[in-house]
Amino acid sequence: MKVFIVGSGGREHAIAASVAKSRKVDQIYCAPGNGGIAEIAECVSIGAMEFEKLADFAEEKEIDLTIIGMDDPLVGGIVDVFEERGLRVFGPRKNAAIIEGSKSFSKDLMKKYGIPTCHYETFHSPEEALLYLETASFPIVLKADGLALGKGVLICNTPEEAEEGIATLMLDKQFGDAGDTVVIEDFMTGREVSVLCYCDGTHIKPMTSAQDHKRAKDGDRGLNTGGMGTFSPSPFYTPEIQKFCETKIYQPTMDAMKAEGRDFVGILFVGLMLTPEGPKVLEYNARFGDPEAQVVLPRMKNDIIDVMEACIDGKLNQVDLQFEDNAAVCVVLASDGYPEKYEKGKRITGLEKFKDKEGYYVFHAGTKATDEGIVTNGGRVLGVTAKGADLKEARANAYQAVQWVSFENKYMRNDIGKAIDEA
Ligand code: GLY
Repeated sequence: MKVFIVGSGGREHAIAASVAKSRKVDQIYCAPGNGGIAEIAECVSIGAMEFEKLADFAEEKEIDLTIIGMDDPLVGGIVDVFEERGLRVFGPRKNAAIIEGSKSFSKDLMKKYGIPTCHYETFHSPEEALLYLETASFPIVLKADGLALGKGVLICNTPEEAEEGIATLMLDKQFGDAGDTVVIEDFMTGREVSVLCYCDGTHIKPMTSAQDHKRAKDGDRGLNTGGMGTFSPSPFYTPEIQKFCETKIYQPTMDAMKAEGRDFVGILFVGLMLTPEGPKVLEYNARFGDPEAQVVLPRMKNDIIDVMEACIDGKLNQVDLQFEDNAAVCVVLASDGYPEKYEKGKRITGLEKFKDKEGYYVFHAGTKATDEGIVTNGGRVLGVTAKGADLKEARANAYQAVQWVSFENKYMRNDIGKAIDEA
């Protein structure tokens, strides 16, 4: 089988590594890919938003399955373009990817179908939003309606911060049209858990849980990032909580999307907050999480192609999804200064130390292959994942493995997985 992956981050490298393990796969292509993906796939320089060119490539190479890793092309309708051309593709169509593409859509869906989430209001003008803030209790959460590179969520502790946030999103348009509409919601407290689920439009199968670390600095301080590290499973996501989520959140979301004529096929990422009143949905995404994929996929026992094909064919109920009974921790190595200003082009050494080391992985995010070797090419550079018998062992292994890699301006958080000490 020939498989084509669309995307260029650590998530796509983790997907490519799983695909490479499939007994069905002979050849992997990736667009645009990165320096690490290039070791297991042929990378082609077509942008993830160049839908027709990507479909041309899939036709020309007689690709059997295309996997869309990233949110922007999914929300933009890449799956519809491929399907219209008779190409087999894994991911939700545009009318289903809206669950990630519009925060107001997803909040309205949850309200209509009684799926647990917090109170919210939607605003289309800054004046209405500012009026609402006069009587709101703080902290509150401001969310740009559309995609904003994971940076469109602002936690505001005071009315002044909220006014500034409204100006940033709606007047200064820092995230363009994504801020034309904003959702203002109550601030929820508790543990955050990410649960990625395979979906076939009717059935939904949750994978093992994970927890992300979104802030740039230790102690959950600093700016929001795409994610600085993650661990799996979450010890806070108990079997009782899982049961609750399966009956009150996951399947109801599948059913709600079907009832709306928006059958969801692909990966539904449910961002949960385990609040004192029970689990509530923080947000939905329409793809694997990054870096969550980097701890979840290495623990999956199934052949990923079997599971994805079952999703496309509406036969997910026939799959026995299984994960290893162990743990994994991923520490992101970033360029110092991320998520603001940082330098690129720094030579990376030590990557060969991961070769043939069972249970250790180095997933590339912002890297580039040059004549001088692999160099840094982004804010999040690498995800170093290690497995262990339990979370403590996986964490110790991951923090040992990050020492194998060097590059100038290497930055990481030192407390990924520290929360497990409180479990
Ligand atoms: N780690 C969060 C995300 O993928 O959106």
